[in-house]
Amino acid sequence: MESTQFPSDFTWGTATSAHQTEGNNTNSDWWQWERTKDTSKKFPEEPSNEACDSYNRFEDDFELCRQLNNNGVRISVEWARIEPEEGKFNQIEIDHYKKVLNSAKSKGLKTFVTLQHFTLPMWLSKKGGWLNSQSPKYFAEYASVVAKELDILIDFYMTINEPQVLILMGYINGLWAPGKKNFWYSIPVQINLLRAHIAGYKNIKSLSNKPVGIVHNVVWHQPSKNWYDKIWAAFLNFGNRDTVLMPINKYNDFIGLNYYFTNYVNNLKVQNPREPASDLGWWIDFNGLEKILISLKMYNRPIYITENGLADASDDQRQWFIKNMLTSCLKALDKGANLKGYFYWSLIDNYEWHNGFWPRFGLVRIDREDNLRRVPRPSFYYYSNICKTGNLD
Ligand code: FCB
Repeated sequence: MESTQFPSDFTWGTATSAHQTEGNNTNSDWWQWERTKDTSKKFPEEPSNEACDSYNRFEDDFELCRQLNNNGVRISVEWARIEPEEGKFNQIEIDHYKKVLNSAKSKGLKTFVTLQHFTLPMWLSKKGGWLNSQSPKYFAEYASVVAKELDILIDFYMTINEPQVLILMGYINGLWAPGKKNFWYSIPVQINLLRAHIAGYKNIKSLSNKPVGIVHNVVWHQPSKNWYDKIWAAFLNFGNRDTVLMPINKYNDFIGLNYYFTNYVNNLKVQNPREPASDLGWWIDFNGLEKILISLKMYNRPIYITENGLADASDDQRQWFIKNMLTSCLKALDKGANLKGYFYWSLIDNYEWHNGFWPRFGLVRIDREDNLRRVPRPSFYYYSNICKTGNLD
């Protein structure tokens, strides 16, 4: 029988990002994007405004992490706050993040800190954002400042969140800032994002001995039984997983894996959604996670699942989802995957980019009618118990 027990040194946590929770991220490209909506555009559905007010309520949020029996937390620091103007770093905001990270530490949480989670400072966006060939240099300078100022409070650095999701949403289908729509942008933008990761990695490593990694969203492509679907799926898995991880492997201490769904490849067509699905229509497939974890063994790096979660406003499916995703983790561990931690996305309901606030990923409900009150859902207590025992039974 398979073990239901996770290793005793496993990291248990939740994940959030700055723009989605802090509120009033006024110097960012997203703040601007949310406000340039014309009536012909459906998205973004609403602006982030005060989001969850986590900028002021971070202590309450970390207290929830403590109640979850977590020993790690993933947050991001906001580039647009730290460097609101080119080359000018804001000490008040740096000191704010010192307080934030100190608070996490005081709750017994190892800090996993993302430096760029989709948003850019407005000044850089005006210069072309990730299309600008200087963008890796700007990112690396910002990374140095974070390392100089905050290193003592950071346990794991994550450079860039989900390069390919940003490319798809911001530069190909234009639903996210900067709203560009050109398939060919994917090439320079991916190159610049990977160059930024490597330049940021080198700068941080010159100042710190903490692990530095990228966060990559991997979609598993599951083929039908047809031989040509198998070839097409293998190609798509390569394009998604490996064109990011291969070029940076020498400069990557761990893999931050985000996993949400699998695509089904049938008659050369990529299909999603399928049943069962989340409130967003994303196909829930537990096998995909196991397959990805095993396939990542080739990179010979520790893996942290830095995001995995479900949009489920009713909270009816969330416990089942967590249990089965973690079962896939155990199966992969059993087959030799070097998996070190799991962060549920998300601690609290938050601003889900172009969809606004309606998708509810939180273990904790945010009552938007009642002063953003934090209300733990039943799944909160379920996950808390798993984190306490490290056991699925
Ligand atoms: C991921 C993002 C995260 C959140 C989840 C649902 O792609 O990293 O910010 O929006 O999806």
